[in-house]
Amino acid sequence: MTTALCPGSFDPPTNGHVDVLRRSLDLFDRLIIGVVVNPSKQPFFSLEERKALFEGIFGVGTVEVIGFDGLLVDVAKEVGADVLVKGLREGADFEYEMAMAHMNRHLTGIETVLLPTSAEHRFISSSLVREVWRLGGDVAGLVPSVVLDALEAKR
Ligand code: PNS
Repeated sequence: MTTALCPGSFDPPTNGHVDVLRRSLDLFDRLIIGVVVNPSKQPFFSLEERKALFEGIFGVGTVEVIGFDGLLVDVAKEVGADVLVKGLREGADFEYEMAMAHMNRHLTGIETVLLPTSAEHRFISSSLVREVWRLGGDVAGLVPSVVLDALEAKR
């Protein structure tokens, strides 16, 4: 049985994240979404809100969502993850993800599976979604409908 841990900020979860997570559900026996929580940074959506968003997207009990603060490899060990899984969009992601994959493997030997995001999602990032939404742009089609509703509820 292979357990994968997919870490990220997911603030908010986008259609790109959902694409990678759904494909990971097909690839691995167990999938844990690890939401990074930085105590010195105020997120747009709280950890509890992001957990609820994932439940809205995938259904209650379909995926496990944990919050974490600290080294990812330590969390992977704690939850019994065999691999890390990450989505890859553009070239800049590649450099960043390769460095982290090498570092995480150096630290504990854990492997990282890099999944290319589907072509139609390549330009989507949580930070761009937040900025476009804040400035009044249309983000429908970039995020799941539950996220769209949650964004509108914050106006
Ligand atoms: O969605 P993001 O913000 O690009 O995700 C980045 C994340 C959470 C995967 C990365 O910052 C991370 O792994 N943070 C945990 C701290 C850690 O282990 N840092 C060393 C990485 S080699």
